[in-house]
Amino acid sequence: MLLRFDHVNCIYDPDASEPVHALTDVSLSVGGGEFVGLIGHTGSGKSTLVQHMNGLLRPTSGTVFADDTDIWSDRYDRKALRARVGLVFQYPEHQLFETDVLADVCFGPRNLGRSREDAERDAKEALSMVGIEEALFSQSPFDLSGGQKRRVAIAGVLAMHPEILILDEPTAGLDPRRREEILSLISELHETQHISIVLVSHSMEDVARYADRILVMDNGKVLYDDPPAAVFARHRELAAIGLRAPEAALLLSELSEAGLSGFDTYAVSAEDTAKEILQAMHSPQGVAADREGAV
Ligand SMILES: Nc1ncnc2c1ncn2[C@@H]1O[C@H](COP(=O)(O)OP(=O)(O)O)[C@@H](O)[C@H]1O
Ligand SMILES: [Mg+2]
Repeated sequence: MLLRFDHVNCIYDPDASEPVHALTDVSLSVGGGEFVGLIGHTGSGKSTLVQHMNGLLRPTSGTVFADDTDIWSDRYDRKALRARVGLVFQYPEHQLFETDVLADVCFGPRNLGRSREDAERDAKEALSMVGIEEALFSQSPFDLSGGQKRRVAIAGVLAMHPEILILDEPTAGLDPRRREEILSLISELHETQHISIVLVSHSMEDVARYADRILVMDNGKVLYDDPPAAVFARHRELAAIGLRAPEAALLLSELSEAGLSGFDTYAVSAEDTAKEILQAMHSPQGVAADREGAV
């Protein structure tokens, strides 16, 4: 499915003396199997934006379309939309509430009217996708580790079979290892289940490795909507709005400014960056470009 925003504005407390313009003239599309990174510093409007994607918030003006239907038109089934566009909130483990893990993950499918049997089948499947073993199904979600709780919360959304999975800062508060686990889980869901992903983060490094496209938000506006390499090339503009391009992208761009050319890709890991540099150093094209001063 495809979600399309057409000139969407969101103003919180419009009647207050200082209304908050949380989204200003946002037009974009997401879905269609892509992995999109949504980046911006705290308060830039990321959470507000994603809550408009599944109809939890209604635009003050402008339109959100799901496959060309206005999701706020009369009789539009927004409950069904919320199953198709699954939103995992920030710190989703705070929303676990059932007595055991399986019951918690069953909540979404049951709420959609599925039978107990079907809901349990979907829940078990979702729990297995996120790597929670059967031995934990009957435990209280509150007895799990932080990383496990978060995976159970993700399973709760997956059990509804979303076509688009939105994760609002899914690595917040996790140590580097758990962070890595969650990111590779998301990437695996994208690849094996063909779910479109919207990954919200304030860290470039987090989205850099996986995203096909990066949306950069600042002060309620979408500043860039481009492939990662094009976004990182704007590292100076990013720094001005409090975002740091990944270290590797910064290094490659400094080298390129210093006269080494021949980079046609960007790299994120240390290994890939080293390969990229070595390749450029040995590339006749790079040297030729240098000589011609075409850097
Ligand atoms: N429920 C709300 N009521 C009033 N203002 C809000 C509310 N939620 C967010 N805001 C404000 O809207 C702006 C965008 O917030 P948010 O979407 O949470 O940004 P982000 O997720 O990027 O940190 C901020 O100025 C924030 O203070
Ligand atoms: Mg937020």
